[in-house]
Amino acid sequence: MTLWIGTSWKMTKTLAEARAWAEGLREHLAGGAPAGVQPFVIPSFTATTTVREILGEDSPVLLGVQNAHWEDAGAWTGEVSVPQAKDAGAQLVEIGHSERREHFGESVETTRWKVAAALRHGLTPLLCIGESLEVKDAGGSAEFILEQAAGALDGLDADELSRVVIAYEPIWAIGEKGRPATVRELIEPFAALGEAYGGKVTGLLYGGSVNLDNAADLLGIEHVTGLFVGRTAWELEGYLELLRIAEAHAAV
Ligand code: PGA
Repeated sequence: MTLWIGTSWKMTKTLAEARAWAEGLREHLAGGAPAGVQPFVIPSFTATTTVREILGEDSPVLLGVQNAHWEDAGAWTGEVSVPQAKDAGAQLVEIGHSERREHFGESVETTRWKVAAALRHGLTPLLCIGESLEVKDAGGSAEFILEQAAGALDGLDADELSRVVIAYEPIWAIGEKGRPATVRELIEPFAALGEAYGGKVTGLLYGGSVNLDNAADLLGIEHVTGLFVGRTAWELEGYLELLRIAEAHAAV
């Protein structure tokens, strides 16, 4: 089993900051990726080519974009297509992060179109799913996230599904306003995801307030095969430490 450890920078970092982070990572991984670990990084669009050029074409680090349109080209002002993202060096497309669902009208339907677009062009869709605190408090977490996933992955054949990565990111655990989820809270949702998608997709990641204190425990949850991280990984040292934690976990 390979553990996927990655970060989205969200709307942060100048080009100079992106360059420094990527150069540091390239130096650190000069000998290859840590054993049993698949690193990935998802900068802002503006830094995609810069990070690609610094990491190099043969980098063990996968590069992604935080969103892409479902159409290949056309009159969609302000949008970026999957072929454009691919042209800029991306290999992954993040789809359906809760911030996009909440603020930018991303729906189950558009996530399905975007997953299809990514697959059509040979990129890995990184589908984010997650429930609100209200849904969680009403006991509906597992049902809600399975519905979100099924809605986005509807109609894929087994081969297509095998190229998808799913990140479960409960909204109540994400960002400054979130609080870290406990292992106990995550057992049931991951059991449900494992039953539906275990062995069928490339990975089932956890995201939301991952930090250096909880990462090892989160990787120990059944069916979790990686971590998708925001703030803790924005400083390169934090990301490198997460890679070390994952490497140690993969070795046992
Ligand atoms: P966070 O972000 O790690 O800063 O909570 C997680 C995410 O939104 O993916």
